[in-house]
Amino acid sequence: MSEQGGRRLHITGRTLTFDADPRINADAARYTEKGAVLIGDGRILWCGQAGDEPADLSAGAERHNHGDDLILPGFVDGHVHYPQIGVIASFGAQLLDWLEKYTFPEEGRFSDAAYARETASRFLNLLLANGTTTAAVYCTVHPESADAFFEEASSRDLRMIAGKILMDRNAPETVTDTAQAGYDDTKSLIEKWHGQGRNLYAITPRFAPTSTPAQLEACGTLMSEFDDVYLQTHVSENTDEVKWVAELFPDARSYQDVYAHYGMLGPRGLYGHAIHMDDADLAQAAETQTRYVHCPTSNLFIGSGLFDIRRTWNAGVDVMLGCDVGGGTSLSPFATMKAAYEIAQFSGYPLTPEQAFWLSTSGGADTLSLGDRIGRLAPGYEADVVVLNLKSTPVIDQRVKRAENLRDILFAQMILADDRAIRAVYANGLRVVG
Ligand code: GUN
Ligand code: ZN
Repeated sequence: MSEQGGRRLHITGRTLTFDADPRINADAARYTEKGAVLIGDGRILWCGQAGDEPADLSAGAERHNHGDDLILPGFVDGHVHYPQIGVIASFGAQLLDWLEKYTFPEEGRFSDAAYARETASRFLNLLLANGTTTAAVYCTVHPESADAFFEEASSRDLRMIAGKILMDRNAPETVTDTAQAGYDDTKSLIEKWHGQGRNLYAITPRFAPTSTPAQLEACGTLMSEFDDVYLQTHVSENTDEVKWVAELFPDARSYQDVYAHYGMLGPRGLYGHAIHMDDADLAQAAETQTRYVHCPTSNLFIGSGLFDIRRTWNAGVDVMLGCDVGGGTSLSPFATMKAAYEIAQFSGYPLTPEQAFWLSTSGGADTLSLGDRIGRLAPGYEADVVVLNLKSTPVIDQRVKRAENLRDILFAQMILADDRAIRAVYANGLRVVG
């Protein structure tokens, strides 16, 4: 774990962490105007009011004074494609054309291990510069792309979830495998990387249209062989895609039901988009504790549809946020929160800033089943921490000057801020940005 040995850090500033679910508990946010966090050996040792630090822990600690900046847990992202960082902001296509025109050609380049490594490094630097310290990440079909990603994540000591895509039909040869190769390569990668340092593995069938029944069956088998790995995929993002799935799998009740048939739903299942769902789908997701990842900037950019967060929550389904770059248009959690707010407005639901920040920290960590390790400023938690400049632009500065409460301050950030607000990032107790 550590180059840091016994070195301790004492960081001060305003602090914010969530003790509870802000949808249920109006006092879920624990905000301290003059706060302090003590870190040692990659863990949070203590968090509270500056001045109250236990002397034995703070003595000799290196001091980082962040003034009136806001210290909070590192952001968590539930869905992003690292190989697509180079084709972010590609013009003019909806999902299936966008995949053919931009995504598959770019992903084809990742058979080259050096290209994969350079892209993974650049992607992780950009992700950290946006304050995100944990993400569920799609690689490409090439095992080299997953090795490259995990090597780069390991060198930064990050808590990351990732997996090689499986896809054995309806795509160019340069980005397809076979049911058997997909199974074998995934198994070897799980054995190599899952639980190695802070790395975690996700079995990653791209989506039902690019996997044969034999490949989906193999994914279900892998799920049953490894009971603590994740599975990530896409579901019901775009109406043409939903129609295509109905043609390819005529016996399935719905798109999500294809995955159910192969034993792929459950609490470790991270399903991206989930826009065009009927009540039976939502009931099935709630029953199986399957998780949905709402990717609002992507849904707007690709024109896929409007996810109904209130309806999904009311059905008892766990939701987190994802940026979905390159379909998504920003790695910034602020952009994702802003778009989630705007989309919720279409259904008359004002997503609160407390809910949005909770979704992007401890709520997201809970959805990833990592809520006992990351996402909170609390003793024993892994020391992934972000520090925000709350006045990072002139517009934000003049708006925050009028803020009457924490909600106003947080709302101004989620609507107006970007990576300029990221003053510092600590990953596993090491300062990696700022
Ligand atoms: N569905 C299948 N693959 C993808 C992808 O790469 N991005 C998005 N947004 N949707 C997908
Ligand atoms: Zn995606």
